[in-house]
Amino acid sequence: MSDLKYKRIVLKLSGEALAGDKGFGINPPVIKTIAEEIRDVYNLGIQIAIVVGGGNMWRGEAGEEMGMERSQADYIGMLSTIMNGLALQDNLESVEVPTRLQTSIEMKQIAEPYIRRKAVRHLEKGRIVIFAGGTGNPYFSTDTTAVLRAAEINADAILMAKNGVDGIYSADPKTDPNAKKYDHLTQMDIINKGLHVMDTTASSLSMDNNIPLVVFNLNKPGNIKKVVQGEKIGTIVEG
Ligand code: GTP
Repeated sequence: MSDLKYKRIVLKLSGEALAGDKGFGINPPVIKTIAEEIRDVYNLGIQIAIVVGGGNMWRGEAGEEMGMERSQADYIGMLSTIMNGLALQDNLESVEVPTRLQTSIEMKQIAEPYIRRKAVRHLEKGRIVIFAGGTGNPYFSTDTTAVLRAAEINADAILMAKNGVDGIYSADPKTDPNAKKYDHLTQMDIINKGLHVMDTTASSLSMDNNIPLVVFNLNKPGNIKKVVQGEKIGTIVEG
């Protein structure tokens, strides 16, 4: 265990990460590969909680286009994260990883309700806990959920897995060839440089609780393992 930088992590997976190139729905080989990557980290003895997004099933913009009430659209988004949570649970269990799925909105026939102390106990007993349903409130992102749950369960770090982007840049690397990648930032740097890492609610919660955040590329095999073993990949935000 000595080579592990973090012992308890919250892994934030976007819904899009499950979709692969199609950008929509769940791509079976892609979710299987993610489950295998997580299993490899789990086998190191790391306690893992996962917060999953829902953008592969439902995008808030679709609600806007329909003239839908924001809260209504957000509830659809929350249900999307629960569908992803169920799929992730199934895929993790198919690679022999014990899991518990907890939802912020009660749907007892489908999953356990979110109970902080129970979640911590599951982690201690070697189960991966998947937190689905976001915070259970409209207007809050799954990034905010990741920071909130990390604070609640005293996680050592939040691993923010990105699709194809390998860290935090000075500008959008897809559109600006001069964009520079940062290896290390403080919370204050993020404010001073005006960087958009998470939405402002998630950022301020993260800042207040000072939990290290690692932003890295999920699409490179072995990357989650590298982060927990302290290899310098992606961007680390701490201090
Ligand atoms: P221990 O307390 O450590 O024994 O944890 P456990 O999760 O193994 O015990 P429990 O008897 O609470 O759960 C057994 C199974 O039922 C697990 O797969 C749980 O996820 C599931 N489970 C527990 N509570 C609920 C619930 O409210 N709804 C649903 N759908 N499943 C639940």
